[in-house]
Amino acid sequence: MIAAGRELTVELGARAYPIRIGAGLLGDCAQWQDALPGRHVLVVSDAHVAPLYLDRVTAGLRDHVTATLVLPAGEAHKTLDSATQIFAALAQLKASRDAGVIALGGGVIGDLAGFAAACWMRGIAFIQMPTTLLAMVDSSVGGKTGVDLPQGKNLVGAFHQPRAVIADTDTLSTLPERELRAGFAEVIKYGALGDAEFFSWLETNADALLARDADKLAATIAHCCRQKAGIVARDETERGERALLNFGHSFGHALETVCGYGTLVHGEAIAIGMCLAARLSARLGMAREAEAIRLRDLLTRFGLPTTIPADTDAAAVLAAMRLDKKNASGRLRLILWHGVGRADIAEGVDEAAIRAILSGSR
Ligand code: NAD
Ligand code: GLY
Repeated sequence: MIAAGRELTVELGARAYPIRIGAGLLGDCAQWQDALPGRHVLVVSDAHVAPLYLDRVTAGLRDHVTATLVLPAGEAHKTLDSATQIFAALAQLKASRDAGVIALGGGVIGDLAGFAAACWMRGIAFIQMPTTLLAMVDSSVGGKTGVDLPQGKNLVGAFHQPRAVIADTDTLSTLPERELRAGFAEVIKYGALGDAEFFSWLETNADALLARDADKLAATIAHCCRQKAGIVARDETERGERALLNFGHSFGHALETVCGYGTLVHGEAIAIGMCLAARLSARLGMAREAEAIRLRDLLTRFGLPTTIPADTDAAAVLAAMRLDKKNASGRLRLILWHGVGRADIAEGVDEAAIRAILSGSR
């Protein structure tokens, strides 16, 4: 039921780009060099990923004028300060408008380096080389880039599409268990929001996926990327359908902000957020309680949390949700749910119902 194709295209006319998924891609520069328009390249990575994989990438850049920048790892560093460090490295490289940036790492590095590429000289080329499951199935595709502020997640950013996404599945062998599980939150999201058949497939194949079965992991990545590429091609800047990809994110982003960036990793916060959104949907009469339980059970099988940490300040979470990017005219706009495979955009959601869900979820 999962299609085998491992090369996809995000169909955006003149800005269309490939997503390549497979083993050994980082070391095979023929797969990605063409996406670099000029001679100057900055490779941005983090302190966990660089010692493992940076050499494979720079080996393919011998004919380029190359610089590297290794940032500290983790969500706490997805900041304007880190973006400023990337700008300084680009200045030192004397990067002109035909320079390129390579983002080698998880979603933090992808969002950050993509944001810097969007800003440098009003936009230069960049390549996403995702090394986490989460980044392979979600953040590397679609051109959302940005940084966090103390006030909220991803509040400063830009839409800026990469020239290519190179997902080398070999890199998943070194991914810590917690991060692998976190990636499955976004995988489950695709099933939950619009693909009931895929959700059932995940229920059947959870053990093999957690055991890092290479074929099933690659098929999962391709399947999710195909879904995301389609949505992005139809709604690049989130005027409608793309908002569905934020199922669980209003709650999840608020939890990340309130708990402190990196306390819950992003996928964990999204797992909790999807459970809260599903329970809210049940409370509002949109979904059956049994559907919310089915979602919770699958997240639990993948080792993900499904309730908010005990000491979380519910009022602060609701306050953070009021700064969510989906809101309009001071009204909360959330992605709610009719059950597995059917999410929906809901306007003006009642805050009392949200408060009740937050306080009942510890
Ligand atoms: P991350 O980038 O922090 O990576 C997780 C951890 O794994 C880090 O410590 C990293 O150093 C380490 N790591 C990465 N690859 C590794 C590897 N192959 N081997 C060993 N260690 C490795 O987190 P993430 O979960 O990849 O991404 C989360 C971020 O993505 C959040 O900031 C979130 O907001 C963002 N995001 C963006 C989008 C988008 O559309 N732009 C979508 C979803 C999530
Ligand atoms: N992860 C949400 C989006 O890319 O739109």
